[in-house]
Amino acid sequence: MQTRLDGKAIVITGAGGGIGEATARLAAALGGKVLVNDINGAAAENVACAIREAGGQAQSNSDDVGKWATGQALVAAALEAFGRLDGLVNNAAVFRLAPMAQTTEDDLRATFEVNTLGAAACAQAAARHMLANSGGSIVNIVSGAQCGMEALAAYGASKGGLASLTYAWAMELAGGRVRMNAVSPLADTQMSDITRAYLASRSVPLPDYVPPASANAPAICYLLSDASAGLHGQVVRIGGSDLTLMTHPAILAPVLQSSQWTVESIAAAFAGPLSSRHQRLGMVQVEQI
Ligand SMILES: NC(=O)c1ccc[n+]([C@@H]2O[C@H](COP(=O)([O-])OP(=O)(O)OC[C@H]3O[C@@H](n4cnc5c(N)ncnc54)[C@H](O)[C@@H]3O)[C@@H](O)[C@H]2O)c1
Repeated sequence: MQTRLDGKAIVITGAGGGIGEATARLAAALGGKVLVNDINGAAAENVACAIREAGGQAQSNSDDVGKWATGQALVAAALEAFGRLDGLVNNAAVFRLAPMAQTTEDDLRATFEVNTLGAAACAQAAARHMLANSGGSIVNIVSGAQCGMEALAAYGASKGGLASLTYAWAMELAGGRVRMNAVSPLADTQMSDITRAYLASRSVPLPDYVPPASANAPAICYLLSDASAGLHGQVVRIGGSDLTLMTHPAILAPVLQSSQWTVESIAAAFAGPLSSRHQRLGMVQVEQI
């Protein structure tokens, strides 16, 4: 089981801090060559510098993931720096907290531009290169908020979109040399600070403990490594001491059947057998299905 990343060149977006930085540091410690991207160029350079000082290989990049051309630019930057590309972590994200009535067009556009479209552009450019060369692993960082969380609809939907891209593109890539998975993390970062302040303002009890960013890096590096060769199209959930998978959206069985559903028979179905099958809202834990 090869859990090291020796010789692999990996692009990590939004790696100037938080989970991206922790992943960049661990990936480099495991032998990977890391392109540390962040729109905050100084932060990206600090991380790359720290990795080099620790004996690892890293270069920084400050391209804006919210621009479609950045996907191709990051592939080109990795090739220029390291001569190859084996891994991509779509980690950069914009976080906006607002209930529906206060959500603005800009909240929706900004979150989708970076979290969904930007990640899609990076994944597509990386996959094209990997398919034409020696394969690779793409890891999309999604969120429990994709299950629905109050005041996190824009952000959650942007991550749900990225999760759906993961399922569909993993199906298209199946059997080939490029794997695509996702990670739903939990960490004490500047992003979770915003949630904590919001929950406190609404007197919602705060969790006792939120793990540090570094607690998420091993799951992401595992997915980049050859040790995870059998994993494809999965959403790994890591939350401190908890490790599991997220379910994919699915059709609930058993399925009721009728040769021709009418408004009346559908109403009867929802008053009858389907009344006990309404899904709970938000992120819940379910038994194996
Ligand atoms: N912290 C958590 O509990 C948590 C939970 C679920 C999901 N996530 C996800 O984990 C990932 C990392 O989050 P984090 O908590 O470390 O947050 P963070 O805010 O510390 O890190 C995000 C980084 O992305 C960078 N970034 C933002 N827009 C960018 C752009 N357009 N181009 C390039 N870089 C950009 C930021 O400068 C920042 O350094 C994100 O995808 C986030 O949605 C985090």
